Amino acid sequence: MNTLNPLETLIPAPKHAIVSGSLFYAATLTLDGDGDFLPQMRSLRDEILSSFGETVLSPQSSAEEFEYFEKQTHDETPLWGANFRREAAPTVSVRLRWADADTWQNRLTAASFAVPSQNGAYLLEISPGGIEMLIFRSSPAEAAEAMAATAPVVSAPAAIPVTAATAAEAAAAACATLMQLLYLGWDGWRFRLPSCRILDWPELSWRGLMVDSARHFMSLAELKKTLSMAWLYKLNRFHWHLTDDQGWRLELLTLPEATGSGSTRPGGDPNRNGFYTQEDVRDLVAYAADRGITVVPELDLPGHVQAVLAGHPEFACTPGPHQVRTEWGISEDVLCMGNPAGLAFTLKAWDEVCELFPGPYVHIGGDEVPTTRWEQCPKCAAKKAELGLKDWIDLHGHFVAAVADHLAKKGKIVFGWDEVLDSSLPNKAHVVHWRTWLTEQSLKALAQGRLLIRSPFFPYYLDFVQTDDRSQTPGLAYRSPDAASLRRVYEYDPFADLGTSAPSGFLGIQANAWSEYIRDGRRLEFMLFPRLIAIAETAWNGKQRAAYETFTRRLEAGHTGRRGILVQRNINYCPYYE
Ligand code: ACM
Ligand code: ZN
Repeated sequence: MNTLNPLETLIPAPKHAIVSGSLFYAATLTLDGDGDFLPQMRSLRDEILSSFGETVLSPQSSAEEFEYFEKQTHDETPLWGANFRREAAPTVSVRLRWADADTWQNRLTAASFAVPSQNGAYLLEISPGGIEMLIFRSSPAEAAEAMAATAPVVSAPAAIPVTAATAAEAAAAACATLMQLLYLGWDGWRFRLPSCRILDWPELSWRGLMVDSARHFMSLAELKKTLSMAWLYKLNRFHWHLTDDQGWRLELLTLPEATGSGSTRPGGDPNRNGFYTQEDVRDLVAYAADRGITVVPELDLPGHVQAVLAGHPEFACTPGPHQVRTEWGISEDVLCMGNPAGLAFTLKAWDEVCELFPGPYVHIGGDEVPTTRWEQCPKCAAKKAELGLKDWIDLHGHFVAAVADHLAKKGKIVFGWDEVLDSSLPNKAHVVHWRTWLTEQSLKALAQGRLLIRSPFFPYYLDFVQTDDRSQTPGLAYRSPDAASLRRVYEYDPFADLGTSAPSGFLGIQANAWSEYIRDGRRLEFMLFPRLIAIAETAWNGKQRAAYETFTRRLEAGHTGRRGILVQRNINYCPYYE
């Protein structure tokens, strides 16, 4: 049984939490709120239904059950009700709504909370009289404008659109906190809840998870389970790696050959083949949006393209034959920079992807592109001469600039792997810094006015093994240079080298689950958990987070082990960590 107060067990730890009364029971809940928060209410309802059963949201059914029970007790064989009494099973209302400036101020003052200067805070008040989640808005007009806002048309750091997304994310975060408290207090029939007030907001605005659906195909159900967990721990970005040498996983109606020849590869593993239909994508994007998570699609070009070359061998520098790749590693066969059809394919694919993914962010890949083939290719040499480029890598720079320009003109905020910094040619891509060994990339990106996300190869690649003692963590996994243990993940400082006050261009951090050795959903869970929870804590609380031992105490008290959240969620987490 959980020996910590549930408030101390929440992960991420809320910024401010105070106990305002005693623990109390709620057996049934009613949900309502302002119409703007319908998506968050809908997802909270669905999460509660699937976790605790339908009657938890049926006060009427509960009342009927009591009536029935009271009648039955007059029979000769009474039902054995034990603690089944009306007063032990009250209905509590849950409301999610806007707070105007006065209400917000008054509530915070009543709770002795200072008003946070950050956008994106929520106030959660829990008492036997009701559960309230409040989201601040300065004026109804501003809120309406914020909720109606669509994709931004700018990419400068200062102009990142916070309002609409921020209110939705704050509401989703409030619901996630409540959901954790429901789990922590669930006795199988009703909830034991702390009377409390919580004021909370995130330290980092980009709290990401990347899943590689190319190396192994993850079903939509598995991805939803993962996103539901991401929501529960307040992550807000799902970077979806949809294409690689080993598979093109996204249906494109204008380019049917992309999946036609690119989504299958030989072999007996059931998860080598498959692609997401556009209906699947819309379903997942909506599922994520309801949970405050923005999906960031990645098409990885001009390297990692053997699945494209399988259908379009003419896009390569050499005649081939080219096949969807069956081994891991880096292929030398990349798009030929001397054939304009490769770039045209890329832009056409992106045009359709932009229709499908409404979020403001896209990721154009760009990692691990050897120039070997280009250096041997007369068409590439001619292109290099035509453009007056100095180095072979500038062909990469030229390609990245063309794709990033195209997407920026559509109003997208464009990210690429940190290889987008490798050419001296300018481009508009922001940076996901993954190459830990090139420490200068983060500061270089910021100095050039780019946005920065840190997703270090070590220790945020969660396909890496969890323990130095390999006998503890069975199965194949990378190990470089050390195990990415829970402690190393938790203690990694994403602010290192960024100066005393983190620059505004530094948006946040991201965990990456590459799937060369993650063959199915259960293995994905084993690799993600509990390490993803450590990254979620870091993203939410930044420099203020507690010592590792405090974190693991909270983790074990409420998340792993008997009746922990991960167990209640049927997550195949890795129980071994150092
Ligand atoms: C990467 O790990 N190649 C981004
Ligand atoms: Zn070429």
